[in-house]
Amino acid sequence: MLKSYIKGIGHFVPENIVTNDDLAQVMNTNDEWITERTGIKERRHRRDRVHSDETTATYAFHAAKKALSMAKMSAQDLDYIVFATLSPDYFFPGSGVVLQDLLGCKTIGALDVRNQCSGFIYAMSVANAFIKSGTYKNILVVGAEIHSFGLDFSDEGRGVSVIFGDGAGAVILSATEMEDHGDILAVNMHSEGKYAEELVVKFPGTKYGWSDRLLTENHGLTSKEIYPYMNGNFVFKHAVTRFPETMMEALDKAGKKVEDLDMFIPHQANLRIAQFVQQKFSLPDEKIFNNIQKYGNTTAASIVIALSEAIEQDKIKRGDLVLLSAFGSGFTWGSVLFHY
Ligand code: UT7
Repeated sequence: MLKSYIKGIGHFVPENIVTNDDLAQVMNTNDEWITERTGIKERRHRRDRVHSDETTATYAFHAAKKALSMAKMSAQDLDYIVFATLSPDYFFPGSGVVLQDLLGCKTIGALDVRNQCSGFIYAMSVANAFIKSGTYKNILVVGAEIHSFGLDFSDEGRGVSVIFGDGAGAVILSATEMEDHGDILAVNMHSEGKYAEELVVKFPGTKYGWSDRLLTENHGLTSKEIYPYMNGNFVFKHAVTRFPETMMEALDKAGKKVEDLDMFIPHQANLRIAQFVQQKFSLPDEKIFNNIQKYGNTTAASIVIALSEAIEQDKIKRGDLVLLSAFGSGFTWGSVLFHY
């Protein structure tokens, strides 16, 4: 039976550290509020927020090189790319094709996944299906974001802008029949589109217009359309309900119990959400990994950066049972349960 296992993993974050105090210099916020409400102490932003050679695909490139190196593979060995991001290099084409070129892969398929905070879960689920069906053998699965270019750093945007950060992570998911290799045991994905506008960037898009409005002298665009909007309390309440549901669904499907888990990595949206889930399932501290304190919320990149760091720090070992779960814009949510 074909199994899908993580052969290599890596992550990349830009060097530029932005602390809560740095943000307090440009907007009406403070370290105490951010720390208390979110757990975040600092995040990474690309050096030049507006124009830069650093794009989402270049961050993904650095992460992918590390994953390839760990897997002892070259870009030529890859059969397919799945690229999860909400902040692509272009409106179109997607960042997957940019990465295909940067890495010098063959003319393999490159799929972009648009599922925001759940992007990496959706991307892994798609890659797993391709591997289990025998379609592809080695798939590069990426979660990468550059948020800092498109956030509102005025007082009006403070409820959102303090949360998000930049970074990327990549996994090589490979087909194997070896008994001592890991496998993905269960996946699930969900959506509830009636809440699309509770966490949204409205412009550009076919609903709210694009070139017609940009070219009009008084285009009437509001900051609520061009910057991310989040109904924070509403999102929070849904997150703490959906996280336990999707986690239990994955465990039940694989016939596992919470106690069987060696590590749980939640999407790094808010430390309070992660702590709520940890308490609900009575998970000891060593069975949950959070790094939102250092990187903020990097949406599609958050889980894979955390997974990569946890492995780097030897907190996850080969054979361990690991659960990844996410909730976010869409709303979308889901989980991936696997043996590493
Ligand atoms: O990754 C995708 C999924 N996202 C999530 O899961 C995020 C879920 N939501 C959250 O994490 C929280 O709702 C936030 C951290 C975003 C906000 O925390 P909150 O406790 O829900 O705060 P709030 O929006 O209700 O705002 C409380 C107060 C307001 O002031 P008043 O009206 O009480 O005077 C805000 O204006 O805090 C104020 N506030 C700030 N104060 C200082 C909002 N942002 C800031 C800020 N600094 N950055």
